[in-house]
Amino acid sequence: MDAFVIQGGRRLRGRVRIHGAKNAALPLMAAGLLTEEPVVLRDVPRLADIRNMQKLLSTLGLRVEEEEQGSTDGGGEGLVLRLKEEDPQRSEAPYEIVRTMRASICVLGPMLAKRGYARVSMPGGCNIGDRPVDLHLRGLRALGAKISLDAGYIVAQAPAGGRLRGARVFLGGPFGSTVLGTDNVMCAAALAEGTTIIESAACEPEVVDLARLLTAMGAKIEGAGSPRVVIHGVPKLHGAEHRIVPDRIEAGTYIMAAAMTNGEVVLENFPLEAMGAVLDRLAEVGVLVEPVGPGAGRAGGMAATLDGDEAWRTTVRVSSERRLHPVQVTTQPHPGFPTDLQAQIMALLCLADGNSILTEKIFPDRFLHVAELARMGASLIRNGPTVLVTGVKELTAAPVMASDLRASAGLVLAGLAARGTTIVNRVYHLDRGYERMELTLQKLGAQIERVDQPG
Ligand code: EPU
Repeated sequence: MDAFVIQGGRRLRGRVRIHGAKNAALPLMAAGLLTEEPVVLRDVPRLADIRNMQKLLSTLGLRVEEEEQGSTDGGGEGLVLRLKEEDPQRSEAPYEIVRTMRASICVLGPMLAKRGYARVSMPGGCNIGDRPVDLHLRGLRALGAKISLDAGYIVAQAPAGGRLRGARVFLGGPFGSTVLGTDNVMCAAALAEGTTIIESAACEPEVVDLARLLTAMGAKIEGAGSPRVVIHGVPKLHGAEHRIVPDRIEAGTYIMAAAMTNGEVVLENFPLEAMGAVLDRLAEVGVLVEPVGPGAGRAGGMAATLDGDEAWRTTVRVSSERRLHPVQVTTQPHPGFPTDLQAQIMALLCLADGNSILTEKIFPDRFLHVAELARMGASLIRNGPTVLVTGVKELTAAPVMASDLRASAGLVLAGLAARGTTIVNRVYHLDRGYERMELTLQKLGAQIERVDQPG
């Protein structure tokens, strides 16, 4: 089992390119199920979850062809994937694949809409919480689907005639909207008869990216990125080509890595437009993120100063004050601070000068990193969904492990800043969401190696 061995204390310096976003690529790949024609996706990251989705889509009768677009050394562009329907009769997403990746649920809406029938293993909970799918099912039922549960599988059937019907759908739940639920309903509504209005839709940039692909495929969608999305159904969608939006979570992770090591890095293909809340909190901590090249010289790198593609794919320089200030951070649905960066900012705040308060409002139990950071000398007190982080002068290296992708990223950051040799075990969690993280960090001057750790 792979582990990272990190010699902490190196300042990160250099330039890296942010990859395409995992959480955009997965539902966009599933949207390939909506048409008989080829869908071509560019800048798809090389990740374990992408491999799993390729496997799942092949099982569901798509031919998935891959061509390399760039280098695999942490620079260059990602994969080009070409998806093409081959056998639309295969409508079962099996437990063996779904259990490895919850995002498999995003095949449900496209299959139901295009094929009139879907059988998808019910995803279980995972290490960050229960993760129900009631809102996905509520949305699809509103469009006329008959949904039942059979031997652990969600069985969804379109009404007689095989086509869903547009409807008004409310997708708000106890923790806000649902990202993949919005994706599922948007895909289903794209091929439904009549107009669908999604109220309390998720506003995440990855949802907007899906709407862009669907629009390129001939869908009629208004308001993506706002809480009210209107979809006028069309009878058929065609093929399209699309480049995946850059990964705002990978970008945020490398900003924090630079800040924790008192480094200075340049990030290319940086999705400035998607990073408002993160840059706001980081500015208060004392981390400066400024555009270089187009948009340079505009204070704080605020997205409003750039527009169009430039705002989504710009180049920024990250630097920080030596003394990091404590802040309050609350995770929220977009445009709030993302839950997928909570572990990483906690690692950063462990080194701030004072008390920070972190509240998790999306997955209230997403704190697997807390006990591990404490093993590295962090001072953390958790009370329900809130953690009081008291900054310490330094972190000390230790063997650590976390059974969640983002928690593991937080531990790598802590290891980069800690005194001594940190071993982060079970790196396969990181490989689900970060493309060869060790190569990117090596490129920035970190001393980090991937080793095969027995057991
Ligand atoms: N929820 C419900 N009912 C539902 C669906 C969700 O109550 O039917 C609750 C969840 O339990 C949670 C909240 O609503 O409390 C938000 O969950 P959401 O459905 O938005 O999460 P998701 O769509 O399953 C995506 C990302 C996650 C990210 C969340 C929140 C993908 C593939 N996954 O999950 O990413 O944390 O949105 O932003 O897009 C990660 O990349 O590490 C990751 C976990």
